[in-house]
Amino acid sequence: MRTQVGIIGAGPAGLLLAHLLRRQGIECVVIENQTRQHVEERVRAGVLEQGTVDLLAASGVGERLQREGLVHHGIELRFNGESHRIALTDLTGRSITVYGQQEVVKDLIAARLGGGGEIFFGVTDVALAGLDTDAPSLKFTHEGRAHSVDCDFIAGCDGFHGVSRASIPARALAEFSRSYPFAWLGILAAAPPTSPELIYAHHEHGFALYSMRSPTITRLYLQCSPDEDLSRWSEARIWEELHARLEASDGWRLAEGAILQKGVTPMRSYVVEPMRFGRLFLAGDAAHIVPPTGAKGMNLAVNDVRVLTEVLAAFYAGRRAALDDYSPRCLGRVWRAEHFSWWMTSMLHRAGADDPFHEKLQLAQLKYVTSSKAAATSLAENYVGLPFG
Ligand code: APR
Ligand code: PHB
Repeated sequence: MRTQVGIIGAGPAGLLLAHLLRRQGIECVVIENQTRQHVEERVRAGVLEQGTVDLLAASGVGERLQREGLVHHGIELRFNGESHRIALTDLTGRSITVYGQQEVVKDLIAARLGGGGEIFFGVTDVALAGLDTDAPSLKFTHEGRAHSVDCDFIAGCDGFHGVSRASIPARALAEFSRSYPFAWLGILAAAPPTSPELIYAHHEHGFALYSMRSPTITRLYLQCSPDEDLSRWSEARIWEELHARLEASDGWRLAEGAILQKGVTPMRSYVVEPMRFGRLFLAGDAAHIVPPTGAKGMNLAVNDVRVLTEVLAAFYAGRRAALDDYSPRCLGRVWRAEHFSWWMTSMLHRAGADDPFHEKLQLAQLKYVTSSKAAATSLAENYVGLPFG
């Protein structure tokens, strides 16, 4: 086989890249090591920046998103038993849309397959070769047959644990990372949201987040330890902690419902520089990870492939040097989001068993962002997403 761009991974990054390239008349082959059902059912984050929504809509995959997505104009911060609203739209003129990542994935898979494109699901033995030449290649096994694809470029969209970044010689990359002494226990519940907006709660037992997916499904998270044993969390204990951490003194109550899904999300900050090695371009989680507190992960993946499409289109139009712009253009936004996600995480999570000084700093910062218009605007403009660079 031969193609222009070999794409590894059918998450939001790989699928959107395939879609955007096709609109530029650039061919690609997409390979994914999981099944279609697995990638469509994997529960992930769900907040889309305005720019992400606009890009999906402008490229023709926003129809269901605009029909079913929940547009939000604010978020709540709860601490000291009180609730404070950050009026995102009043402060920035922009909004966010709550729409599950796997719904974006479903829409993109439907667009590719419906448009006559192909995705090789369930591949094994993925290997990359010739990355530092002008003729890289991609090898894999699909339904028992070995394939080799000659490419102009390879896009590594295979997430944090993928094979792409691991195929780059270590001396060619610099890694920057931070780990956190906590994780999130997340549940999806068959319960109607009783709050119209997301609630980020600072509490002495630890952080909690109230989110949703639809008028009948609530998405909830509790700070827990990174090696949390899920068997120690009975349904009763989960609800007890959610009530304790999320309900403030204003009488608001969350609704309980059957727990449809339960899992632990690790918290990590990670960036690799540059996001390119020769003809291999890394995009999305393959190049960077943010803790979920700032809701930036999927939005960064979308921005990377937007930029990658632009530089590849410029290359095929004769501007070969445009390739050099990819990594620096992406990294500016990546580091802004790394800072914001780290900052939100540090402000809201219980640090250690005994760090009263840190807790006082958190409360001082929370009071500041909820009482100063300048500070609230800073949070809001990062949360809704800064304009594309
Ligand atoms: N070969 C083929 N596919 C692979 C391989 C491999 N060796 N390794 C991993 N993959 C696939 C994974 O199964 C997954 O479907 O690559 C895909 C990567 O998708 P995501 O992990 O969703 O990453 P990305 O597309 O960059 O989207 C980033 O995902 O984790 C969230 O918070 C993150 O919202 C952000 C988004
Ligand atoms: C979610 O709805 O899954 C969600 C929302 C906001 C976050 C993280 C996750 O910051």
